[in-house]
This record gives sequence, structure tokens and C-alpha cells, in this order.
Amino acid sequence: MKTQLEKIRQNAKAALDSFETKEQVEEARIKYLGKKGELTAILKQMGKLSAEERPVIGQLANEIRADIEKKIALKSAEIKEKELEKKLREETIDVTMPGMPASIGSKHPLSIVLDEIKEIFMGMGFDIAEGPEVEYDYYNFEALNIPKDHPARDTQDTFYIDDNIVLRTQTSPMQIRFMESHEPPFRMIAPGRVFRSDAVDATHSPLFHQIEGLVVDKGVTMADLKGTLEAFAKRLYGENTKIRLRPHHFPFTEPSCEIDVSCFKCGGKGCPMCKGEGWIEILGGGMVHPKVLKNGGVDPNIYSGFAFGIGLERLVMFRFNIDDMRLLYENDLRFLQQF
Ligand code: DAH
Repeated sequence: MKTQLEKIRQNAKAALDSFETKEQVEEARIKYLGKKGELTAILKQMGKLSAEERPVIGQLANEIRADIEKKIALKSAEIKEKELEKKLREETIDVTMPGMPASIGSKHPLSIVLDEIKEIFMGMGFDIAEGPEVEYDYYNFEALNIPKDHPARDTQDTFYIDDNIVLRTQTSPMQIRFMESHEPPFRMIAPGRVFRSDAVDATHSPLFHQIEGLVVDKGVTMADLKGTLEAFAKRLYGENTKIRLRPHHFPFTEPSCEIDVSCFKCGGKGCPMCKGEGWIEILGGGMVHPKVLKNGGVDPNIYSGFAFGIGLERLVMFRFNIDDMRLLYENDLRFLQQF
């Protein structure tokens, strides 16, 4: 029995030495120390021993049990440590590995062109102003010389919050707001969203963008308007660009004009882009009406000024050859990723 016990001790130790996993160690524990284990099996035969032998074998068996238990504990600790080391090794972050590139998107075509326009006017000393999209009827119409019964209201039908408050139909109310809060001389552009109750189609949207311009000083003339806008057109479309002023009517400017640029595709010969005209209309403008100056708190006997309004969508559509305005608002990535 003694030799059997010693054998168990040796086998257990040898086995445990060679084991590498928690599972193997657990199996060894069951095999040697478990209820149905080898050691227990031997102890069950103790009854056969003589009274002298029993305590000797008993003590030996306990020693061996303690021995194997210790061995198991040591081995478990060793395995645990190795596993931890392995985990640490595997989970270290390699900071030299190339990262996953983040998708940063790109500028919306409306922003591309608007940023260019801002840049050009800032270069000419213009300030950039912003104002409310929900606007008083007074600023949007009345103060701009468009009284309640004026036919211009028909073409600028909008969304009414109440009788006196509307979604602005144009950025022109910024002329009045800017004059009220600034002393001339000044030059400003005011880009922003405007609204009209138009049905959506390829060239109309109830929401679109304008850029208002206003210059007020002593002795400002139509020549200043022409020179400024010619410089603008050349910066936007190239040095060879020409501009042409056509007489027009706006209630808040007198005289008023529409301004065309020579077609940037054909250079003025006539092509599908300019519908054979050689010219493309890009904005409206004129000399600020004396009544409008007065409404803005500027004395028309001392100061004069010119104003202009640019429709952003038109410029963007021409620039990028976009034939349907709806594309600008649909946020379809397949469209937007082209810019
Ligand atoms: N607000 C006008 C519109 O929406 C555009 C415009 C024309 C603005 C002439 C101006 C201007 O400042 O002088 O049709």
C-alpha cells in the first residue's frame, strides 16, 4: 500500500508538471483527490490493514494529499500568471499601425461657391452680416418700398407667421437692418436662406439662398456698382469675363438693372449653357432708392449707395453643370461625394 501511495504521488507530480491548462489541472485533481479518485480508493482499503500499520499509512496518505494539493495550487497559480502575460501581450496596442481613416465628408456645393463669393467680397473690404430668417413684414417689404398693395408682393408670396411676421422672401431686409445699426460709410454682404411659397421643381424650391450686397458712402454712383460687380465677375469666372447691365425694375433701387456675365462656357459665342445668348444673368442691383436710405436712417441728401442681390443656387448650378435644383437639398451622398 505504501508503494501504491508513493506511486500516486509520483504520477500526480509528473502529470501536473507536464500540464498547461486549467482544465488539465482540474482533471488531475479529480483523478487523484476526488471522491472516486485514486487516493480515496486506497484509503477505502485501510480497513484491511493492521492496527499498527493504519496510522502510518494514514499519515502518509494525508501527507501525499497535502503534497498534491500544494502542487495543484502552485500549478494553477503558474497557469494563471502565464495566461495573464499572454493576454497582456496579445492586447497591447501597436501605435505604429496605420489607423482606420475617418470619413470627413466634403463641402456642399452651395458652401463651395458661397465661400468663394465671401472671399472675393472680403477682399474688397466688405463686412459679412447675418440676419433673421423669420422677419417682420416691415423689413421684408414695407421698408423696402413694397407697400401692402404692391404687385411685387405677388411674385414673392411667402409663408406667414401672422399678418406682420413672415419667412423672409429675400435678403434685402438686411439692407434696412444694417443701415439702422451702422453709420456710413460701409460695405457689406449678407448671405442667407430665403423662402417663397413656390412648388418644388427643377428650378424652384420654397427654400433657397441669396447674397445681398450694400455699399453706402458719399458720392457712390452707378459706376461704382459696375466696377465692383465687374471685379466680382472676373474673380469668379476669370479675367476675360465681361458684364452687361440691362435696365430692370426693383422697388428698392432706382435706377435698377439686371447684370449678365459673358457665358463662361463659350465666352459669349452662344452655346447650350447660355441658350445661345452668349450671356447669363447672375444678379439684380441698382442705386439704393432714397426712400429706402431714409427708412434705414441714412440721409439721402448726404449719402448714396448701391445694392445688389445674388441668387446662390443659379450660380452653383451653372458652375457645376447641375440641371436639377432638387439635387442640392436631397443630401444624397452619391451626388454630394462628387464635389
Ligand atoms: N431681392 C431681390 C430679389 O429677390 C434681388 C435684388 C435685386 C436685391 C436688386 C438687391 C437689388 O439688393 O438691388 O429678387
